[in-house]
Amino acid sequence: MVFYFTGTSNSLYVAKELDEKIVSIPQIIKKERLEFSADSIGIVCPVYGHEMPGMVKEFIRRASFGTDYLFVVLTYGSHHGGAAEIADLFIRDAGKKADYITTIEMVDNFLPVFDMNEQMAKDKQVGKHLEEIRTAIREKKCGIQKASLAEKTAHKMYTKMVKNAPETVWAAFRVTEECVGCGICTRVCPAGCIRLENQYAVHSKEGCQACFACVHACPKMAVQFALPNPEKNPAARYRNEHVTLCELVKSNDQTLEDCGMDGGRV
Ligand SMILES: Cc1cc2nc3c(=O)[nH]c(=O)nc-3n(C[C@H](O)[C@H](O)[C@H](O)COP(=O)(O)O)c2cc1C
Repeated sequence: MVFYFTGTSNSLYVAKELDEKIVSIPQIIKKERLEFSADSIGIVCPVYGHEMPGMVKEFIRRASFGTDYLFVVLTYGSHHGGAAEIADLFIRDAGKKADYITTIEMVDNFLPVFDMNEQMAKDKQVGKHLEEIRTAIREKKCGIQKASLAEKTAHKMYTKMVKNAPETVWAAFRVTEECVGCGICTRVCPAGCIRLENQYAVHSKEGCQACFACVHACPKMAVQFALPNPEKNPAARYRNEHVTLCELVKSNDQTLEDCGMDGGRV
């Protein structure tokens, strides 16, 4: 069983590749009781500012995992900054223990800094790394990925720059007049932060995970990161090529009544 959180589908793709039974964290977290048992339990999510998204941390804090093997796979785009060790610390603080934590480099969806077309053109050898992770998990390999010196340096530089949780810094989005009120942004948002008012998308900061799902999925590119500087490539957006928009909606839509779980117990 694999629990996942995603904004632009990298983590959903990885989750699908690792297990047949995958569960959306934004949907299951609405349940009161989060008790799970399985031979092996996994968590897949993106790295935001070298950490796991706030919602994933809340899920880990609240959930109880009855398993012999808990693993975490963190998808990232350029520098994970020692995210595996950082996640390990968090999980221990939450009174749990992960047996295996690793990272996998994929397209970096942080469009204030990266051109999505350039990112997509890079061969990050995702298939090969995914196969290595799949084998490690099948063999129930144990260990927490160690941060290299370069990643430790990246983390030091980053923490000097950003003092607060990433979502408090990056949860700033504006909607332009191009908005046609199609509502896609409201349905890909894993935190239910966007609503339509008079056929116009309105984003509210409260609960926003800064996952950029709304920005990347808008067919009119009307949802934008509210940054004074222009984006690297305002004409480029991203969704993992192995995941359809429909799958992303199914995994994140907060208006879906039931995620098919019995009281949160699986
Ligand atoms: C707000 C935000 C912060 C991010 N921070 C990092 C980071 O610190 N290091 C990194 O390598 N990638 C970072 N990324 C890129 C994502 O971790 C990466 O693209 C991930 O695979 C996206 O997963 P998803 O498609 O499942 O949402 C960040 C992306 C966003 C939106």
